[in-house]
Amino acid sequence: MSANQLQPKLIIHGGAGSSLKGKGRIEAVRHSLSSIVEEVYALLLTGAKASEAVVKGCQLLEDEPRFNAGTGSVLQSDGQIRMSAALMEGESQRFSGVINVSRVKNPINVAKVLQDADDRVLSDYGAAELLRELNLPVYNPLTDLRLQEWIEERKDNFQRDMAGVVAEESNSGRGTIGVVALDSQGCIAAATSTGGKGFERIGRVSDSAMPAGNYATSKAAVSCTGIGEDIIDECLAARIVVRVTDGLSLAEAMQRSFTEAKERQRDLGAIAIDATGAIVWGKTCEILIAAYHNGEHIGDTLDWTGDELTGFSK
Ligand code: GLY
Repeated sequence: MSANQLQPKLIIHGGAGSSLKGKGRIEAVRHSLSSIVEEVYALLLTGAKASEAVVKGCQLLEDEPRFNAGTGSVLQSDGQIRMSAALMEGESQRFSGVINVSRVKNPINVAKVLQDADDRVLSDYGAAELLRELNLPVYNPLTDLRLQEWIEERKDNFQRDMAGVVAEESNSGRGTIGVVALDSQGCIAAATSTGGKGFERIGRVSDSAMPAGNYATSKAAVSCTGIGEDIIDECLAARIVVRVTDGLSLAEAMQRSFTEAKERQRDLGAIAIDATGAIVWGKTCEILIAAYHNGEHIGDTLDWTGDELTGFSK
């Protein structure tokens, strides 16, 4: 890194929800998060742009079957997988996304292609047509664990609000994956990808491909996880970023936004980075599955089960 380059910062998440049961499971999730953080941070150290790094991070998280995005996505009520993803680059303040796309390995790649398009958010039929135009290979993201989860839930006529946050878990959770980065040139970006809530009605639209769930400007960037409807009602990602733009520190913006969300009994979490390099996270639920690199070390939020609504890395 040359003298006029900044120390890159990175935070990723793999969802939020009820506690991960068992030391072995926590360690497995920790290992998978930290190896992804390591790989993406190494890319940032080569001088990669924040937008490139968040796309790479999302690809790696989508390829990890334990998380609810890409391979390992949850099934909707009709037994089909429909995924959504978004990318927002802070400097250009440009959002692109894909909604309810099927049969593709990395939905985030489609969001990336759309960054340069005139029509930047595409849903089902339009997204499928774009996949054909791009000649992307047909890919089935279904895993046995997610299929079993759906079969079990069908027996009970889909009583649960959402599918498990990670594939090994049978408890309820809120799965999504997301990445936020600050690069060595001081640019910020956020990317988010999800298989949705699981067991939802056909046509339901996730927050992950809306500015409510994924938002970035030159001041700050946020990726959310949790119940999409709660995130949309709070307009959480955009709300936090606008507060930073209006003069609050990222820590204050997160604390205020999570206090309000808690008061309204929302079920959600978020990760964020600002232009000064602050890394902050928040949750109203039991756990947030997140890991970060602050330039000195890798840390994670897996043991953070306290009542505080936000946390930060120095
Ligand atoms: N936050 C993911 C979803 O509700 O679709």
